[in-house]
Amino acid sequence: MVLVTGGAGYIGSVTAELLLAGGVQVVVLDNLSRGHREAVPPEAPFYRGNIGDRQVIERIASEHEIEACIHFAAFAYVGESVADPARYFENNGRQGIALLGALLDAGVRRIVFSSTCATYGEPLKIPIPETHPQQPANPYGWSKLLMERVLESYDQAYGMKFVALRYFNAAGATGRLGEWHDPETHLVPNVLSAAQGRIPSVAVFGNNYPTPDGTPIRDYIHVADLASAHMLALQYLRAGGASEAVNLGNGKGYSVLEVIETARRVTGRTIPLNIEPPRPGDPSRLVANAEKARHVLGWEPKYRQLEDIIRSDWEWREKHPRGYSSP
Ligand SMILES: NC(=O)c1ccc[n+]([C@@H]2O[C@H](COP(=O)([O-])OP(=O)(O)OC[C@H]3O[C@@H](n4cnc5c(N)ncnc54)[C@H](O)[C@@H]3O)[C@@H](O)[C@H]2O)c1
Repeated sequence: MVLVTGGAGYIGSVTAELLLAGGVQVVVLDNLSRGHREAVPPEAPFYRGNIGDRQVIERIASEHEIEACIHFAAFAYVGESVADPARYFENNGRQGIALLGALLDAGVRRIVFSSTCATYGEPLKIPIPETHPQQPANPYGWSKLLMERVLESYDQAYGMKFVALRYFNAAGATGRLGEWHDPETHLVPNVLSAAQGRIPSVAVFGNNYPTPDGTPIRDYIHVADLASAHMLALQYLRAGGASEAVNLGNGKGYSVLEVIETARRVTGRTIPLNIEPPRPGDPSRLVANAEKARHVLGWEPKYRQLEDIIRSDWEWREKHPRGYSSP
């Protein structure tokens, strides 16, 4: 059995579904602060609770034989972390460390951890390799880097093996599951909400960056490709692999305006945009060097074109115009 924390969230629910389809038994822990109960695969036992609640972890471990934990549960809004860092260090840091302690006590020593390209900060070179210095530009990035460092020490001291997957920008949907947050801070869902007329326009934060069209460049990776990387990371740890940090991206960058233009083509809708001031701590370019994921995990993303990633989300929204019915 694999414990999936944050399995009611966007990437966690897609991964839980893929694991189950691959014959891996899954138990989900989520407090539903940002997730949706109906996103949890119906086959998975569900526990509503906090990752920092030792008693819940003890209960899960006594009711199921947990061989590994895929740890998604976290708060993940950069702007919110700048405004209220205490919330981020408490939820992602303190509770994350409590989770690791409870897992150690339960004898669980394999962890796949959701890290982020936000641990690099403003890049010194593009594409960004895993060896790039980590100097986060916001408390969210620091809370994730903190967890990476804790995992490294726990590996050295207690033999806890981990793969920290540093995702670039997740996007896209599967047949049943998609990205639905309130508030939504990610570009692709906001662009498609504007295409649906759910919001009047898309905010473009800054158009004076040192990029060809002045808007920031990001590397978009399909959520199903992220999910498959988790499956491979689990297999890697089961096979006795050493702890690693691994980037997950497509290695190709698109500007904000290119994303909007692609969404206009895919949806055939007009998508109004609104130029707003740049957000503090937003680097101009974040593009992954994702070679390591290929040779260490044998990972090969299936969605290479931004158009296909956006189309999958659009198809999901057309089927689920109001997203999930549960909060
Ligand atoms: N979406 C991206 O582009 C992206 C990029 C890099 C890293 N990440 C990381 O991937 C992970 C998943 O991201 P997502 O986009 O699916 O986010 P999400 O908000 O959709 O999912 C996170 C889930 O964790 C739950 N949760 C949060 N704190 C909890 C706690 N203390 N106890 C129990 N449950 C808790 C929420 O209810 C939610 O269901 C996060 O750790 C995030 O930092 C996401």
